[in-house]
Amino acid sequence: MSRSATLCARGALAALALGVLAPAHAAGDAAAGKAAFRKCASCHQLGPSARGGFGPQLNGVIGRRAASTTDYQYSDAMRRSGIVWNEQTLAAFLRGPSDVVPGTRMRFWGISDAQQIADLLAYLRTQR
Ligand code: HEC
Repeated sequence: MSRSATLCARGALAALALGVLAPAHAAGDAAAGKAAFRKCASCHQLGPSARGGFGPQLNGVIGRRAASTTDYQYSDAMRRSGIVWNEQTLAAFLRGPSDVVPGTRMRFWGISDAQQIADLLAYLRTQR
């Protein structure tokens, strides 16, 4: 009995893992996003001791109003943008920063790979 019970439990676990992980993967992989964030880390900090440096810190950026951290001097363009960072606005900004915020001080060529953007968003979502 114990052997079939174990197999059965394994099957259930595998189904659970697939059910939980498959959609998350399709939407974006936080581990891959963490690796991709190396592109951002020369200018942006994350984590408990993050502060504004060359760019603003990005803790909890999803759901944040643009230009709302208090220890960073934003460009007028970013201050006046009126953007709230959510999945759509962030994805568009990462694809082409100056298309979304003309005159932004973020000098970044942009990311054209949709999967990489999804991965980055998944990672940023874990950084509250
Ligand atoms: C060369 C430096 C640099 C790189 C690389 C860079 N950024 Fe930025 N980023 C900036 C600067 C500077 C600003 C402030 C822009 C302004 O005030 O116009 C900014 C602003 C932002 C904002 C708006 C933040 C807020 O508080 O409104 C987000 C979101 C952001 N960057 C995300 C990213 C992500 C994600 C990456 C990596 C894919 C990245 N940036 C790469 C310099 C950089």
